[in-house]
Amino acid sequence: MSANYAEVFSRSLEDPEGFWAEAAEAIHWDKKWDAVLDDSAAPIYRWFRGGRLNTCYNALDRHVDAGRGEQAALIYDSPVTGTTRTYTYAELTDEVARCAGALQTLGVGKGDTVVIYMPMVPEGVVAMLACARIGAVHSVVFGGFAPQELAVRIDDAKPKVIVSASCGIEVARVIEYKPLLDKAIELAESKPESCVILQRPMATASMIDGRDHDWADVMSQAAPAGCVSVEATDPLYILYTSGTTGKPKGVVRDNGGHAVALRWSMEYVYDVQPGDVYWAASDVGWVVGHSYIVYAPLFAGCTTILYEGKPVGTPDPGAFWRVIQDHKVKVLFTAPTAFRAIKKEDPSGEFLKKYDISHFTYLFLAGERLDPDTYHWASDLLGVPVIDHWWQTETGWPIAANCMGIKPFPIKAGSPTKPVPGYDVQVLDAEARSVPAGIEGIVTMKLPMPPGCLPTLWEDDERFIESYVSAYPGYYFTGDGGYFDEDGYLYIMGRVDDVINVAGHRLSTGRMEEVIATHPDVAECAVLGVGDELKGQVPLGLCVLKAGVDRDDTEIAKEVVQMVRDQVGAVASFKVATVVLRLPKTRSGKILRGTMRKIADGEKFTVPSTIDDPVILDEVAERLRRVGYAKE
Ligand code: COA
Ligand code: AMP
Repeated sequence: MSANYAEVFSRSLEDPEGFWAEAAEAIHWDKKWDAVLDDSAAPIYRWFRGGRLNTCYNALDRHVDAGRGEQAALIYDSPVTGTTRTYTYAELTDEVARCAGALQTLGVGKGDTVVIYMPMVPEGVVAMLACARIGAVHSVVFGGFAPQELAVRIDDAKPKVIVSASCGIEVARVIEYKPLLDKAIELAESKPESCVILQRPMATASMIDGRDHDWADVMSQAAPAGCVSVEATDPLYILYTSGTTGKPKGVVRDNGGHAVALRWSMEYVYDVQPGDVYWAASDVGWVVGHSYIVYAPLFAGCTTILYEGKPVGTPDPGAFWRVIQDHKVKVLFTAPTAFRAIKKEDPSGEFLKKYDISHFTYLFLAGERLDPDTYHWASDLLGVPVIDHWWQTETGWPIAANCMGIKPFPIKAGSPTKPVPGYDVQVLDAEARSVPAGIEGIVTMKLPMPPGCLPTLWEDDERFIESYVSAYPGYYFTGDGGYFDEDGYLYIMGRVDDVINVAGHRLSTGRMEEVIATHPDVAECAVLGVGDELKGQVPLGLCVLKAGVDRDDTEIAKEVVQMVRDQVGAVASFKVATVVLRLPKTRSGKILRGTMRKIADGEKFTVPSTIDDPVILDEVAERLRRVGYAKE
């Protein structure tokens, strides 16, 4: 690719409307837009106002209409069930059209919401695209969340229908989803009219008469539905993500900007063309799954892989190389933690020697900071460009990357390289002044952000404004800290709020604290994100007991761990809690989480001058040492 980054980048910022109008030519529109960028309600911006399109048509039917119906659209590869199934574009279109018809029969129409709580099976993807086909708004909830978390999302999205399955499979463990779903519906105030349940052979879900329908039955009876034209600014989906409070944020994605940005990214960021095989080893419950398992590869006419397995243990650390070989994968996108898991089990890459992956071209990593060790290991092992790129649920596509479809830059380990065209990234200090190269600050984006990024939060413009665009007026607050170096490379060093990143999964320590605080013996608590060799970070809980509690500390710690697992979910990986006598605080009462995190990680720290009582730090360190942290 010969396009020059400086030219493409400066044009994207100097003439965003011209730039994105040109990119929008790659999308099929039922009606062209009236305005490329509508800034009349800034800081809420809308792209392609007045345009009409259908996202599902752009992902499926248009490729069939263009004669690519027999090309593989989706390959389901499931080592946990021993299944591989290929859907051509024509077959996937038919399935989706029938599912869309089934949803219509259940009363789902344009603008209605549908919650999808599914393991990594093709029916999950079919349900998402079926919603898009009829203009319904899907909200996919990751399978590893507990009923309480699902209930919160049900209450916010108020779905007419929930689509789920009898079970998921975690390596060799069958996790029954239906009891979790039933419990969530019981907890939720907003009750769905119907549930559609995929019965998998490994577990049979018990059905509630009148409410629950068998996926196979509704699909066999359904008439195919056509694509419903929607406004570019109509919502395509809601995806809940962890904020600093217990209440997750419902990130809204629109139809038009999303299609344009994702289609553009496939060519310019990932360097893929129609017919290429693209694999995002993530889960449809996360943003990576939405954007790069489902929508972007299909917009681009690629073959996407849906992998129901892990990087290790299904059956061994050669699992990824087997998939890359068997399906001729050109690009793999996953989280660094997956590579740390492979490296741990197969440090010298013996398993790679069993497979021919000579066609493999790029490895893209995101979801957490790519540590230089993992970068060098993957790069030396694979001998292909290993591209760190930075983004978040809110943006839906990369903010910073070494764009492989534009003339690439030399890689610097530890940096996701430079801002992607469309993103005006600025590092600011607390007074909203630009900081010089080499100095760490708060990473922001100057508004407006490019198409595809969240226009707002679900039915909550106020929270959108308060969370993202009021701290630094005119800028979007990413929640990340970082800096630019002298060459304009961006470095993202971690969150500046109470969000932590566990195995590439974003979690709120505030939510875990809320759960722990309900333990009858706990007076107050703090959850920290501490360093972990495999998962990057894991949560660690510190609890202060109520006066007069005279029970075994370890018993209480165990109960607290179980509560978080039951109420947030296994995905939180909350395994360690300890009782402390007091929590260190500033004189104004703010818990010194950052200082405790440094102590837990064995890092150097300075005792904050605002601390109430420095002796507490020694007590905390002593307690942390007992549970394996705070090593000198
Ligand atoms: N349904 C139910 N439970 C689930 C689940 C799901 N969909 N996904 C994960 N869990 C459970 C796991 O079984 C595990 O439970 P356990 O504590 O009983 O063992 C727990 O949630 C934590 O899961 P995870 O963080 O995935 O840890 P792991 O030890 O099972 O696997 C990795 C570690 C590194 C192999 C795995 O996290 C991984 O493959 N990550 C990289 C890819 C990725 O998902 N990236 C995300 C965004 S790109
Ligand atoms: P999520 O919304 O789950 O995708 O998480 C987004 C957060 O993950 C970001 O705000 C960052 O803190 C972190 N993150 C994602 N990608 C990277 C990366 N390449 N480098 C550093 N941090 C990252």
